[in-house]
Amino acid sequence: MKSAQPEEKSKSVFTDFDYTRFYHYSAEDLAAVLHPFGEWLKEARPAGYYLHGQALASAPTPRVKVRDGKTGQIRELLNLSSYNYLGVSYRPEVKRAAIEAIEKYGLGASGSPILSGTFDLHIELAEALADYKKTPAAILFPTGYSANVGFISAIMRSGDNIVLDQFAHASIVDGAILSKAKTLFFRHNNPLDLERKLANLSGKKLVIVEGVYSMDGDMCALPEIVEVCKRHGARILIDEAHSMFLFGPNGRGVVEHFGLEKEVDFHLGTFSKTLGGQGGYVCGSQELIDYVSGFGRARFFSCSLAPVLAAGLLAGIRIVEQEPQLRAKLWSNVAYLRRRFTEEGVDIGHSCSQVIPVMINDDVRVFPIGEKLQERGLFLQPVVHPAVTRHKSRLRIFVSASLSEQDLAEAVDTIADVLRQEGVCRR
Ligand SMILES: Cc1ncc(COP(=O)(O)O)c(C=O)c1O
Repeated sequence: MKSAQPEEKSKSVFTDFDYTRFYHYSAEDLAAVLHPFGEWLKEARPAGYYLHGQALASAPTPRVKVRDGKTGQIRELLNLSSYNYLGVSYRPEVKRAAIEAIEKYGLGASGSPILSGTFDLHIELAEALADYKKTPAAILFPTGYSANVGFISAIMRSGDNIVLDQFAHASIVDGAILSKAKTLFFRHNNPLDLERKLANLSGKKLVIVEGVYSMDGDMCALPEIVEVCKRHGARILIDEAHSMFLFGPNGRGVVEHFGLEKEVDFHLGTFSKTLGGQGGYVCGSQELIDYVSGFGRARFFSCSLAPVLAAGLLAGIRIVEQEPQLRAKLWSNVAYLRRRFTEEGVDIGHSCSQVIPVMINDDVRVFPIGEKLQERGLFLQPVVHPAVTRHKSRLRIFVSASLSEQDLAEAVDTIADVLRQEGVCRR
């Protein structure tokens, strides 16, 4: 890859819209990258990048108020962009629990979990989660990102081997880097390639997969992966960020869906997706959790999860436990969208979950198409390299149980219409 030189700017908005070139910029002064990047951003923002990071001015409900990145106007859009898969975060019970916690504890934890930052609510939340997951214990992290970084770097060392799915989330990759273990990638969801990679390794081996992959919405080929790992003496960590509380008869994730809860060694996830809150976790034996409590640096060198979040999450878990109909509604919404998109000839890749990519496969056109959809009232985001492979750009939909059939019909009709005008639809 070429380094970004200031004179390249004259070639327009860096036609490939790819800011990864700035990772490779080199100059004597560390700060010298700021100016060329700033210049690039000045052009890229109005040309489409403004769609990223637009400010929300209301709760992430099906109709959300968004401050338009171009005009500054606040508009109400149909929300296809927030995780909140079961619409739990804005439920009255959750808000009430959070308000009560704020009244009692104030804003934040004001301490590390091993010093003054553990509150009764944290203990209750970890216990409720372990109970839900049917594991002996659980431990909380401030975010899903820090759960991966903290957990992986706590259990793996220099000289060990980590084998990651090619599409592993950045937090998994960063955890592997921090651990200093040798890190290899296997082809996405490909047990045969995993087998090839494991066959050449000696020493401790950890394979890391995700329950549902966040960019394509496809599900991990867990039975085959477990079988390969067992044969090669590799342990398995599953990140169920996008599958916990959704998959399996009781919502215990893809491991429950496949009946493989006991075959997977380490279970990790986040509260930011299905529950629409914040915070990461690891579930497992008491021994494992005690170890992570002592060695998960991303946890104890950071302030604890705010008590207000713990209170809201506890209420959220109770709702998910008591209302399995929410999952049923989500899956019926997903089935509707999949059927309608297929009928309309919209390419949704290999999605089999509530994460549905609308494939555009063009790193430049994805932005004007995203803009048109926003003008037509939809809030959904372009996803480009480095989040996905080059030329695999897409507009990503997160489906929520809160969306009505009317909302879904509006979404499909608008997307199909715009894609047809743009010549992207198959039909
Ligand atoms: C698979 C996966 N793991 C971890 C994370 C990080 O979670 P959080 O956003 O809660 O920090 C994400 C977030 O997108 C994710 O998709």
